[in-house]
Amino acid sequence: MSFKILKKEELVPTIYRMDIRAPRIARKAQPGQFVMLRINEKGERVPLTIADFDREKGTITIVFQAIGKTTMHLSSLDENDDIQDFIGPLGNPAHIPKDETVILVGGGVGVAPVFPQARTFAEAGNKVISIIGARSANLLIWEKRMREVSDELYITTDDGTKGHHGFVTDIVKNILESGTKVDRVVAIGPPVMMRAVAGVTRPFNVKTIVSLNSIMVDGTGMCGACRVLVGNETKFACVDGPEFDGHFVDFTLLMNRLAMYQPEEKIAVEKYKCERQGCLC
Ligand code: FES
Repeated sequence: MSFKILKKEELVPTIYRMDIRAPRIARKAQPGQFVMLRINEKGERVPLTIADFDREKGTITIVFQAIGKTTMHLSSLDENDDIQDFIGPLGNPAHIPKDETVILVGGGVGVAPVFPQARTFAEAGNKVISIIGARSANLLIWEKRMREVSDELYITTDDGTKGHHGFVTDIVKNILESGTKVDRVVAIGPPVMMRAVAGVTRPFNVKTIVSLNSIMVDGTGMCGACRVLVGNETKFACVDGPEFDGHFVDFTLLMNRLAMYQPEEKIAVEKYKCERQGCLC
């Protein structure tokens, strides 16, 4: 069995959206869950948080940044190409509150997995305040989609080319300091951003959920590769998460573990680029 790419779109430079035909996964997928894919027999297994699903069409949408060997390879595939393995939905669905005011924060490619949560939170009657950020305006994704499902939408860019000149945390802080009653914050993006959001909300004692993108191998709780420390307890992001209370996550350990294979990842990227160019070195 293989999984066909039905739609491919470069959203902004290096960030791609793909709709994959996977009816059985689409039937069960919930916001917050992820899939694990392997392009071919010798491929690396890569976890990606589900960015959208369409139960009627039987599709799962993934959004990824082509920065490593596998994501670069994935971005080189076209519509109608097949992916060998596509497994899911994995992990626990996000908790969907009712009648709460929720701030949803998405940074970079993390805006994509925030989207199905924002939509489901809105459908459940919550007030949705969304904050989406990117390094620059030309790297911002899914503004229109997020606007459609949010009561309020704030944009930030690190270089000031769109929206607030600064970080998503500035807006979170402004909202909390304004006295707006906020019941929950959900932040998805680079670990450094999620740590910063958790740091801002801690003094206000607002529950803050983060989605952890630790290194995964099997995605089913057997290998231990994805272990994280939450409230001094070891958890497996794939089966205990991927969402955790951000106030208790050991982000330093997470970031150290994410950096563990950087030298090998660099070599793999160089080798891949070399092969693509037909280099014989
Ligand atoms: S990926 Fe193996 S235990 Fe989580």
